[in-house]
Amino acid sequence: MLTWNPALRGRSLLTLLDVTHAEMQELIDLAIALKARRRAGVRGQLLFRRHIALVFEKSSTRTRTAASIAVRDEGGTAEYLSRNEIHLGSKESVADTARVLGRVFDGILFRGYEQAMVEKLAKVSGVPVWNGLTDAFHPTQVLADLMTVQECFGRLAGMKLAYVGDGRNNVANTLMLGCAKAGMHYVNCTPPELTPDPALLATAQALARETGGSVRVEHDPVCGVQGANVLYTDVWVSMGEEAQKEARLRLLRPYQVNLNLCRATGNLGGELIFLHCLPAFHDHQTQMTRESGALEVTDEVFEAPFSRVFDEAENRMHTMKALFVSALVDQ
Ligand code: CP
Ligand code: NVA
Repeated sequence: MLTWNPALRGRSLLTLLDVTHAEMQELIDLAIALKARRRAGVRGQLLFRRHIALVFEKSSTRTRTAASIAVRDEGGTAEYLSRNEIHLGSKESVADTARVLGRVFDGILFRGYEQAMVEKLAKVSGVPVWNGLTDAFHPTQVLADLMTVQECFGRLAGMKLAYVGDGRNNVANTLMLGCAKAGMHYVNCTPPELTPDPALLATAQALARETGGSVRVEHDPVCGVQGANVLYTDVWVSMGEEAQKEARLRLLRPYQVNLNLCRATGNLGGELIFLHCLPAFHDHQTQMTRESGALEVTDEVFEAPFSRVFDEAENRMHTMKALFVSALVDQ
C-alpha cells in the first residue's frame, strides 16, 4: 500500500532546503513505490482532476515530458505554458499572472532563470510551486539522482559521489545539498574559478555534519574521485551562459569524465556508476560536439554498462509524481 507524509501537503519545493532529511527520503521511497506500481501496469487516479501548469522560460526535454506524463498517468492534466506564449512579467506583472494561475491550477512547475522568480510564484500564487530548474538550483533533478543511487546500491548514507565539472551551476549546487542531507560524501571536483558560493558550501557542510556525511571542494579531479561510487557530470555551459562557452571549454577540458578518470576511483568493475542529468555532449551528434569533440563525458563512459543515465532520466517522472501526490492529495 502506498503511503506519503501528510506534512508535505500543500508544500512547495524551491530548493532542497525546503524539505527535511526525512522528508527527502520519504519522497524517494514514494517514488520507488510509484515506479514499481507503474511497472506492475497500474495507471491510477491519484491525481484525478488535479491540474498542473508547466511554466517554462527555458527549453526542456526531460522535465517537461516527465512532469506531464507523471500527472496524466494518475488522471490529472498538465498545461505547458511557454514564456513566449503567456504574459508573465511582460504585458502583466509576475504577481498578477501567478495569482491567475493559482486560481486555475492546483500547482505550478516553473523552469527559468532567476531563483527570485520561482520564489515570487510560490509566495503569491497560493498553490504549491516546484522548481523545475533555475540558474541556481535543480531540486527535482537531484531527487531523481538520489533515487537512482538508492536503486543501484540499496542505500544513500555513506556512499561517495564525485561531481566533476562546473562546480557552481544549478545541478552542482543542488547535489551538494542533497548529498549532505542524505549522509553521503560529496566531492565537488572543479577549477578554482568555478568553486561554489562559500555561503552555500558552508550550509551544505553544516547539513553534512548533522547526517554523518561530508562536503568538500577539490581542484585535482584524479585526487577528488578516489573511492567514488558515483561519478557525476553536467554540461560545461549551462542554459543562459552561452557567451562563456570558449572560456568554459578552456577551464574544464582537464575535468572530462573518461575511462582514465573512472579508473582513478578505484571502483571500476565494482561499486561505481556514472550519472549525468542530461542533455550530454558525449559524441558527434550535436553541433557543439561536431566542432569540439566530446566535452564533459566520452562515449566510452556514457555508453558503459555502469552508466545509469537513462534510469536516472526515467526517475525524473517517478520523483515528480511523488512530489505532486504528496503536495496535492490527502492520504
Ligand atoms: N535534466 C533535465 O532537466 O533535462 P531537460 O533540460 O531536458 O528538462
Ligand atoms: N546545468 C544545466 C542543466 C540542464 C538540465 C543547465 O542549466 O543548462
